[in-house]
Amino acid sequence: MGFYFFLFVGWILLDIQVLELCEAGITSSYVRKTDLDIDMPLDSDVFRVPPGYNAPQQVHITQGDREGKGVIVSWITADEPGSSTVLYWAENSELIYHADGTVLTYKYYNYTSGFIHHCTIKGLEYDTKYYYEVGIGNTTRQFWFITPPKVGPDVPYTFGLIGDLGQTYDSNTTVTHYQMSPAKGQTVLYVGDLSYADNYPYHNNIRWDTWGRFIERSAAYQPWIWTAGNHELDFVPKIGEPKPFKPYTHRYFVPYRASDSTSPLWYSIRRASTHIIVMSSYSAFGKYTPQYKWFTSELPRVNRSETPWLIVLMHCPMYSSYETHYMEGETMRVMYEPWLVKYKVDVVFAGHVHAYERSERISNIKYDIVNGRCTPVNDESAPVYITIGDGGNLEGLATKMTQPQPKYSAYREASFGHGIFDVKNRTHAYFSWNRNQDGVAVEADSLWFHNRYWKSMEKPSVAVL
Ligand SMILES: [Fe+2]
Repeated sequence: MGFYFFLFVGWILLDIQVLELCEAGITSSYVRKTDLDIDMPLDSDVFRVPPGYNAPQQVHITQGDREGKGVIVSWITADEPGSSTVLYWAENSELIYHADGTVLTYKYYNYTSGFIHHCTIKGLEYDTKYYYEVGIGNTTRQFWFITPPKVGPDVPYTFGLIGDLGQTYDSNTTVTHYQMSPAKGQTVLYVGDLSYADNYPYHNNIRWDTWGRFIERSAAYQPWIWTAGNHELDFVPKIGEPKPFKPYTHRYFVPYRASDSTSPLWYSIRRASTHIIVMSSYSAFGKYTPQYKWFTSELPRVNRSETPWLIVLMHCPMYSSYETHYMEGETMRVMYEPWLVKYKVDVVFAGHVHAYERSERISNIKYDIVNGRCTPVNDESAPVYITIGDGGNLEGLATKMTQPQPKYSAYREASFGHGIFDVKNRTHAYFSWNRNQDGVAVEADSLWFHNRYWKSMEKPSVAVL
C-alpha cells in the first residue's frame, strides 16, 4: 500500500513538473557578458559639437499636435540665444514658410544650460517630406522629416521601440542597428530613461548635452515620442534641486495640451492608425490624481474605428519576471490593469528593466481583499506587455531572472537591442525584437498582433450544414 501511495504521489509531482515545463515560456539561453558598460568619452565623434558660431546642436523633433500635422522642433545654441525661428519647405516646393518658437534656459546645481529652443510647426500636409532649417542669423543647419499619413484605420506605419538608452558603446550600437534595420522605423516610441546624467556627481548635466548630440542623427529626422523614466527625476533636494523632472521637461517638449492633459508627463497622440497613450510611472497616479483623471477620461475618447491600434507607453513594467525591479510596477498594475483590459489595449511597452521580455495575453484583475485570487490568467481582452529597457546604458544588463519562469512570461532574454512595431492594417501588426549582436535583419523574437478591437467584433463562426 505504502509503495503504491508513494508511486502515486511521485506520478502527480512528475505530472505537475511536466505540465509547468510544457506551459512555461522561453528563457533564452543566449549568454552575454555581465560586466557594466561605460559611457563613451566626452571627445567621442558622436558627441561632436557642430562647427560654426552658435551652431544649433542637439536637434530633435517630436509630434506637435494631436493628429500628426504638427512637429515640435527643439535645439540648443551655446553662445547666444540667436533665433528661435524655423524655416521649412515641402520637397519640390518653392514656398518657404517660417514658424517662431521660444527660447529658455535652466540652472541645475552649478550647471547652466545653453539656450534651449522649442518651435512648434502646425498645419503641415500629411505624408509629405519637409526640409527645415534652424540657426537663422548665425550658423544654419538643415534637416528633414516626413509627416505621417492622415489618421485612418488601415494606414500602415512602422514604429521603433527603444528604452533606457544611455550613452555607452552599446547605446551607439542600438541606435545604429535601429537606423540600419530593413524594417525602416518611421517614428521612435521611447519608453523612458534617456541620458543617465544622474549617474554622475551632482547629475552633471553636460551628459544631457552629449546625449542630445548623440541621438540627433535619428531624432532630428524622425519624431521620438517621449516617456519619462526614473532617470529623468533629477530630484536632489540636498543640492538645492527639489523640482522633479527639471532638465527633462526643459529639454524635451511634448504636445500634452493637445490631448487635454495638464502635464507633459502624461499625454496622448494619434498617428496613422494608432492612438498612443504615454503615462508617467513616477508621478502621482492614485485615484483622484490629475494623471488618473486624465487617463480615465482619455480611454473613452479613443475612437477605434479611426485608430484601431491602442498602444500604452510607460517606464516601469507592470509585468516583469526579472529580479531587478521585481514588482515595482505592482501598484500601477493594481490601479490601471482593469482599465487596460476593459478598453482592450493592444500592447503596453515599458522599459526600466535592462532586458527584453514579452508576456502572454494575461490579466490579474479578479483579486479583492477577501477572495485571494492573485494569479494571472489567460485573457483575450488583455494587452501583451513588452519590456524593452535594453537600449544599452551604463548600468548594464539585468541578467537575474526569477525561477521558474512564470507562465505569463512568453519570452525573456537579457540582451541589448530594439523593437519594431509594424502596423499593417486595421487587423494585423507585426512586432519583432532585434538583439544588437545579430545582423540588422535578424529577429530574435517576434509576434503577429491581431487587433483587440476588431477581434472582439468578430462573430463566432457558424457551421454551415
Ligand atoms: Fe529606469
